[in-house]
Amino acid sequence: MNKKTVFEKAVYDSAFRVLVSKNALEKRIQQLGQQLTRDYRDKEPIIVGVLNGCFIFIADLVRAIELDLEIDFLKISSYGDAQVSSGQVTMLKDLQADIRGRHVLVVEDIVDTGLSLKFLQEKLSALKPASLKFVTLLYKKQKAKIHFEIDYIGFEIPDEFVIGYGLDHKQILRNLPAVYIMD
Ligand code: IMP
Repeated sequence: MNKKTVFEKAVYDSAFRVLVSKNALEKRIQQLGQQLTRDYRDKEPIIVGVLNGCFIFIADLVRAIELDLEIDFLKISSYGDAQVSSGQVTMLKDLQADIRGRHVLVVEDIVDTGLSLKFLQEKLSALKPASLKFVTLLYKKQKAKIHFEIDYIGFEIPDEFVIGYGLDHKQILRNLPAVYIMD
């Protein structure tokens, strides 16, 4: 018998608890898309994905926004393969687009400590966009230390390590269709 993959254990053996189901994700992302369609009408925004974790969320989110928009990506690192933030954020891949004078919406998978968000807020606002807003799919509200409101939030979640729908554990399990708690 072949050894089961962690993916199979998660999906078929209920090895991890589902925190946000596929259905709930779909519904909430449609709502966010409609709200963003209203808020960014006539603004032709640049949607900036924060790699790697955002890739599934941004793919679904932009298809729920019925506007002309551009998409760009940046990549930052703070965790490595650890489950706890190292406290150091570095830019691994910068934006290609010139965001000066543009309406920028940054798409995050999760706000945990809030360090990444704070880093991006400082870095991107220095480039003088017309507006700078943030959307995060998941928000660990009790844990995050940020001194400004996040503009759009998918779900507030407890302070647990989560995987799936783009979020990884040691680079695997991003392809799980829902968000699971990893005990
Ligand atoms: P920050 O602590 O808010 O700066 O979050 C930094 C990054 O850590 C996020 O963008 C995620 O990529 C990753 N991260 C934070 N919490 C989790 C989690 O529960 N599961 C998987 N990745 C996480």
